[in-house]
Amino acid sequence: MTKRIAVLGAGPSGLAQLRAFDAARRAGADVPEIVCFEKQSDLGGMWNYTWRTGLDQHGEPVHASMYRYLWSNGPKECLEFADYSFEEHFGRPIASYPPRPVLRDYIMGRIERSGLRDQIRFNTAVHSVEYSEETGRFTVTVRELEHDRMVSEEFDWVVVATGHFSTPNAPSFPGLSQFPGRVLHAHDFRDACEFTGKDLLLIGSSYSAEDIGTQCYKYGAKSVTFSYRSAPMGYDWPEAFSEKPLLDRVEGNTAHFVDGTSKDVDAIIMCTGYQHHFPFLPDELTLRTNNRLYPQGLYQGVFWIDNPKLIYLGMQDQYYTFNMFDAQAWVARDVILGRTGLPDTETMRAHSEEWFARENACAGVDDDIDFQAAYVRDLVDRSDYPDFRIEEVAEMFKQWQHDKREDILGYRNKRYRSTITGTLAPPHHTPWMKAMDDTLEAFLQESRELEEQPAPAQAGQDAVIKNAAAKASGTAKVGGPKAAEAARDRSAGKAERELQRA
Ligand SMILES: Cc1cc2nc3c(=O)[nH]c(=O)nc-3n(C[C@H](O)[C@H](O)[C@H](O)COP(=O)(O)OP(=O)(O)OC[C@H]3O[C@@H](n4cnc5c(N)ncnc54)[C@H](O)[C@@H]3O)c2cc1C
Ligand SMILES: NC(=O)c1ccc[n+]([C@@H]2O[C@H](COP(=O)([O-])OP(=O)(O)OC[C@H]3O[C@@H](n4cnc5c(N)ncnc54)[C@H](OP(=O)(O)O)[C@@H]3O)[C@@H](O)[C@H]2O)c1
Repeated sequence: MTKRIAVLGAGPSGLAQLRAFDAARRAGADVPEIVCFEKQSDLGGMWNYTWRTGLDQHGEPVHASMYRYLWSNGPKECLEFADYSFEEHFGRPIASYPPRPVLRDYIMGRIERSGLRDQIRFNTAVHSVEYSEETGRFTVTVRELEHDRMVSEEFDWVVVATGHFSTPNAPSFPGLSQFPGRVLHAHDFRDACEFTGKDLLLIGSSYSAEDIGTQCYKYGAKSVTFSYRSAPMGYDWPEAFSEKPLLDRVEGNTAHFVDGTSKDVDAIIMCTGYQHHFPFLPDELTLRTNNRLYPQGLYQGVFWIDNPKLIYLGMQDQYYTFNMFDAQAWVARDVILGRTGLPDTETMRAHSEEWFARENACAGVDDDIDFQAAYVRDLVDRSDYPDFRIEEVAEMFKQWQHDKREDILGYRNKRYRSTITGTLAPPHHTPWMKAMDDTLEAFLQESRELEEQPAPAQAGQDAVIKNAAAKASGTAKVGGPKAAEAARDRSAGKAERELQRA
């Protein structure tokens, strides 16, 4: 009997799984039947935008947490697929920080060009997954949303790729119920223009707080107050921003903080993160974790140790994203295909605990980045997923952190070099703070106008980088154009970093 695999979710992680099997099939492997269930009407996962909040038209929870005017918060060079570059997709180099529709187009392009859409059943929400010890198979029950019909099918493997930034973690504070303005979670934030001219309080001190706060400021908010639980973000904020310790209570429209200070505000946005939430899974198959780099209970960060025929993709907190999901999917594929085996339960548990402890020993952001780089390296070395010079990407992440410290409103104007193609991204001529149109057309149009003109400040840099690349072209240790290109890149990257340090 042909083995069957259910992939739950058609976001970047689920799509990585489809792509991994497709790569094996193209190389001649006999691949099992794959069915991907997706409750939205299109692929792309979190990268799809909807105006809806709460429940969708079918009564299902709205998955999207992304909002209008969202731009990538990291350089695209850090998430580039190793088997499908941005240049291949767009036909030319593009700037390092694209807005959401551009990244969505890129994610979708790889799948459309491989003809994998047919494997996805859209408008199909997974409602339950049960495992039978007797048959060794899973029963997956879905609701076909357009027909309002429940359907069950059996599978040998289940890949959970339903994301973990969709179910809000929303604490309460005394007085919130009487607050006269809007109170919402970041999950329901859609349009910064709603807050033009307003004084905002954002609770949380991580990416959502930083990004929603800066975006609201960009679109005209009067002031942004952040309230932190553990530590302030500590950026060099413009005057309209302030950081306060945790909110203690709200009286009328006055927010009181635990240090005794207060601030009158018009709206409160909880940027307090998300929960890993799998309402369709029974207790014994449910991953329970906070948002961390190495969730417990998973071998190699993917296989559910108590039943490794259940696989989770993308459940980590993320520096690396799309390329890490790919690396995970390639490893999962090889186990499903029987190319590699899994050790016994105790060995898997010990291995997982070792990585968990290693994460706990991390002492700061750089350690965290190196930790995730080591994890991705471990995965990539186990499969034939193309190497994308993971450690160089880690250095880019560190540079990105540095850029943010230097200029929190301007870091998106920087550019990076692709580790896949070796191309340094062109500049985006409109500084992020002035780029109000986030459409794909506007972004590509702007890039096209720029193509022929390097930014004046960086033209000199580029010449030095080119020089370094030329010098390096003879230094490849292994023969072949790919290796020469790699050596060129390493040297050019080093020259660029030296320039940046200088
Ligand atoms: C506001 C925000 C901004 C972000 N910005 C960036 C960024 O700039 N760069 C970056 O690299 N990453 C960013 N991320 C991280 C982002 O989550 C990942 O890039 C990526 O989308 C994760 O992919 P995924 O497939 O694991 O999950 P998701 O993209 O969340 O996809 C999960 C899919 O599963 C489907 N699904 C869920 N439940 C069911 C069900 N019961 N039945 C059927 N289908 C279901 C969903 O509809 C969805 O399509 C951001 C996240 C958020 C919340
Ligand atoms: N433009 C973009 O690309 C963009 C924009 C937004 C988000 N994102 C992505 O979205 C993902 C999620 O980011 P996130 O910021 O939503 O979540 P997060 O990184 O998990 O951070 C959650 C924040 O909420 C705080 N918090 C949690 N519980 C709290 C409580 N009870 N009281 C007060 N504070 C509390 C945490 O404080 P502690 O520090 O004390 O734990 C932390 O600051 C990330 O991957 C991020 O990259 C990207």
